[in-house]
Amino acid sequence: MERVSPRLRVAVQKSGRLSDKSMDLLREAGFRPVNTKNALAARVENFPVDLLFVRDDDIPTFVGNGACDFGIVGRNVLEEHALRGDDNFAVVAPLGFGKCALKIAGPKDMKYEGPASLAGLRIATTYPRLLARFLKENNVDASVVRMSGAVELAPRLHMADVICDLVSTGATLEANGLVPLDTVLESEALLVRSRRSLDPTLVHVAEMMQARIDGVLATKESKYIMMNAPESALDRICEILPGADSPTVLPLAGRKGHVAVHAVCQESVFWETLQKLKDAGASAILVLPIEKMLM
Ligand code: PRP
Ligand code: ZN
Repeated sequence: MERVSPRLRVAVQKSGRLSDKSMDLLREAGFRPVNTKNALAARVENFPVDLLFVRDDDIPTFVGNGACDFGIVGRNVLEEHALRGDDNFAVVAPLGFGKCALKIAGPKDMKYEGPASLAGLRIATTYPRLLARFLKENNVDASVVRMSGAVELAPRLHMADVICDLVSTGATLEANGLVPLDTVLESEALLVRSRRSLDPTLVHVAEMMQARIDGVLATKESKYIMMNAPESALDRICEILPGADSPTVLPLAGRKGHVAVHAVCQESVFWETLQKLKDAGASAILVLPIEKMLM
């Protein structure tokens, strides 16, 4: 019988706030998944990688028990899960998308002067452990009403006085006549990996995937900057360049004492920076986007 060679398994949210951007990131990293529509899993055609489309709340379990090797999941879901005492996963990198916050929210007319104002209230949430931690850290005695969805309705139905739920645009709160009162946790999408050991044949693929994702994240902010300058201005120019180490310096044909300076800047390059470079003696300054980067 033919032996099936092992494939790296990556868990991605099936449908929700992180789905599209998670897939975009993997595609930008050069993975070409096939059959992604309405499937529970998709094969990446150019690498031994399979994507599994699951509920976000299940991702920490799958990654923790080794059913998946990697996952893309919100910090909110991951930390709520970790508070159960299961943390068989490691955060590889924050991914810069899916930013939202777990917030306490209440009716518009409620008086709120910090966590102490929650004492004795009923708080509805789908994040009972993160909420309990927040209450404990603030020495507040309140009762937690566990729900599995539609938390925003709880005050209107008199099931709770306030809620603790995820807020991104704030539209859901507004539609339900609630206002944010406090922040329990800031969240964004994270790349996580299982602490269980990988099949040795997949170690290289896993390293490559991490390096490529790092590369995609790095190019988001990075710019390639080029300029001409008198040699005497080099020190000053290097001081001004944002997040660039050791720029390339090339002689300029026919212009003694002048050089071309090329550098990768790891931070955003603003007009103010360009002005400073010009004031320092630089001319013909070009800022170019970087399409791909492998460090
Ligand atoms: C969250 C939360 C709110 C909504 C807030 O649910 O429960 O309903 O998003 O977003 P907004 O501030 O942009 O209106 P989510 O979509 O994460 O679904 P889930 O809780 O079922 O995973
Ligand atoms: Zn969810």
